[in-house]
Amino acid sequence: QDDKDLKPRPPVVTVMGHVDHGKTRLLDTIRRSNVIEGEAGGITQRIGAYQVSVDLEGEQRKITFLDTPGHEAFTAMRARGAELTDVAILVVAADDGVMPQTVEAINHAQAAHVPIVVAVNKIDKEGANPDKVRGQLTEFGLVPEDYGGDTMFVDISAKQGTNVNKLLEAVLLTADAELDLRANPDMDARGATIEARLDKGRGAVASVLVQSGTLHVGDAIVAGTSYGRVRAMLDENGKPMKEATPSSPVQVLGLTSVPTAGDLFLVAGDDRAARQIAGKRQATERAAQLAKRRKIV
Ligand code: GTP
Ligand code: NA
Ligand code: MG
Repeated sequence: QDDKDLKPRPPVVTVMGHVDHGKTRLLDTIRRSNVIEGEAGGITQRIGAYQVSVDLEGEQRKITFLDTPGHEAFTAMRARGAELTDVAILVVAADDGVMPQTVEAINHAQAAHVPIVVAVNKIDKEGANPDKVRGQLTEFGLVPEDYGGDTMFVDISAKQGTNVNKLLEAVLLTADAELDLRANPDMDARGATIEARLDKGRGAVASVLVQSGTLHVGDAIVAGTSYGRVRAMLDENGKPMKEATPSSPVQVLGLTSVPTAGDLFLVAGDDRAARQIAGKRQATERAAQLAKRRKIV
């Protein structure tokens, strides 16, 4: 991999935190205010991820958000080999403070070496105590810059939209400071399945995240034990795309079966190669299942 072939790519973000601390509300607020506009009349659809555009010091930058919040999804993906998340936003409700699943989320992110940006949420509420949250999180190695640490904390209200842009800026600043997010767009695509389902009219529909290379309509691909040829690609506005570059989420039509979330995908030389790779994987999976069953008996 030649250094000069690497180009900057947007960070991929997962939102984590305790039950009811506002993960879904935050994702909805971000989506509503910053999603890159599609064609007029386009119906936005959930494809498991979306991209937003953020102005950072006069430069338009993109961030990719994974739409399924929580560390469970994050961990399930990792168990299948998919390392999608670059930065985690930890949502902590300022009226509730650090709770058991806050700690779990921290543990999962830290185990994966994913930098954390803290969103201290619900600052509009009576009884909100953002300073207490800062104090509590210090114990877990998340020390605000004001306290001599290097974790960015942003006080927000997901409900009212307060400081949500600041939070997005903090994500970009953290990514720039702690990560080297570059990928080579000029090679066969690789990435992971975000979610997939069977659609009555369209067959297997898989949302994938391209992690390196560029995915094109017509590419033969393997995703887990599924294979096929990319018949069409759609963005989250339902707009057809010809190609998808690193950190882009895209809906792929054309697989002959439905892959599992977290399944890695790659481009194969041609249809035959794709079928062969998938066939080998299917055999390996069957053998593993058989061995497991024998052990149980
Ligand atoms: P789970 O998915 O169940 O883990 O919860 P969640 O973290 O996704 O929380 P959710 O976004 O569903 O928010 C929980 C409740 O808190 C909802 O009633 C939200 O409207 C409310 N809420 C979220 N953010 C804010 C906020 O900034 N201020 C106030 N006042 N309420 C909020
Ligand atoms: Na909830
Ligand atoms: Mg939720």
